[in-house]
Amino acid sequence: MRIIFFAGKGGVGKTSVAAATGIRAAEMGKSTVIMSLDVAHSLSDIFDLERSLLDQNRGKPLKVSKNLWIQEMDVQEEIENNWGDIYKYISSLLSTTGLDDILAEELAILPGMEEVSLLLYINRYVRDKVFDVIILDCAPTGESLRFISIPTTLEWYIKKIFKMERAIAKYVGPVARRVYDVPIPGDDYFDAVEYLFHRLRGVDEILTDPQVTTVRLITNPEKIVLKETRRVFMYFCLYKMSIDAIIMNRILPGHINDTYFRDWRKSQRQYIEKAEKYFSPIPIFSVNLFRNEILGYESLKTLADQIYLKRDPLKRFYKGEPYSLIKENGEYRLIMKLPFLAKEDIELNKLSDELIIRVGSYKRHVLLPRQVAASKSVRATMEGEHLCIHFGGDDHGQEQG
Ligand SMILES: Nc1ncnc2c1ncn2[C@@H]1O[C@H](COP(=O)(O)OP(=O)(O)OP(=O)(O)O)[C@@H](O)[C@H]1O
Ligand SMILES: [Mg+2]
Repeated sequence: MRIIFFAGKGGVGKTSVAAATGIRAAEMGKSTVIMSLDVAHSLSDIFDLERSLLDQNRGKPLKVSKNLWIQEMDVQEEIENNWGDIYKYISSLLSTTGLDDILAEELAILPGMEEVSLLLYINRYVRDKVFDVIILDCAPTGESLRFISIPTTLEWYIKKIFKMERAIAKYVGPVARRVYDVPIPGDDYFDAVEYLFHRLRGVDEILTDPQVTTVRLITNPEKIVLKETRRVFMYFCLYKMSIDAIIMNRILPGHINDTYFRDWRKSQRQYIEKAEKYFSPIPIFSVNLFRNEILGYESLKTLADQIYLKRDPLKRFYKGEPYSLIKENGEYRLIMKLPFLAKEDIELNKLSDELIIRVGSYKRHVLLPRQVAASKSVRATMEGEHLCIHFGGDDHGQEQG
């Protein structure tokens, strides 16, 4: 079983590279699905498929060649299948606030529903061994970052919030229903959330197991794209996902000597060198700018040849772990690779058995094992690219930070 995510800034070539990788895997005899949340349905465009084929398929996998399926999710379809009671509650909540029904239904498509639906598929495909390889063409960065935070946020939500909410609704519900017009969620809602969670259980372990899941970041040799790639890199590390390759796309080929492109080539070379420094030791695979846009099976195969040469695309190209918890001299230390950050950018809070790491607007809850949670002091240091969090025993004198 192998899952590979392809992520990066808008327009860098994610869909093309994901499709090329899928084709290579399928040709190696692995049954492969390429999944996408993209509402623009570029996956079907890139395979030059008739739109109507996919519309008829209503978000289910569609076979495009031997061993290869593509799946473009259909939000409405997913809501009907997965979100019934939760969706009903939320839209009733919104319509009692005075919105008309249609608008309330629209708004009840919560941010994250599509992503959670995708996680449900991944979990089921892995549990039922439906495919050998799952390839995920992520949405442009902003959205895909929300996606990676979902499994850990859900775990936290269920453990910390959900049980409390359910208890409150149970005791306060009958009274509140008489006093307020706002509907209090009933058992249907809570059962549905619980069932959903049950079906998601384990997906976080799958996504953070580097033996199974790795992330490949697509980038271009340009200032703004590279900056964004560094940011994404750090966030994937924060959520404990393992990045095993960077794909540097759209490099001007060496034989272009036209004066018009001279400065372009020069600046591209500089950014490529910078990228090597930033991302080392993770390998960077280079891809030239093609003569034409990349469309159809044959041109995707050419792309796969450029990216992987003779290499097996399912290999893990880099094996470093993004974070680990170790015990040394009686002290626990959580070591997390967070390159491109200074200590000042990180905010830490420990609340009983959880550690909250905040970087900018991103927040990661790390549930701590019992022995670690019992420690009285938490201290952070930055060691090179690694954030080290020291959990002290009973040495009260340590600085909090
Ligand atoms: N190396 C390349 N040479 C020439 N054209 C390319 C190359 N890589 C990608 N393209 C073209 O650039 C366009 C955008 O590529 P693609 O759709 O793969 O990007 P994306 O990152 O998935 O975009 P989005 O963020 O919109 O989903 C496509 O028309 C594709 O054919
Ligand atoms: Mg795309």
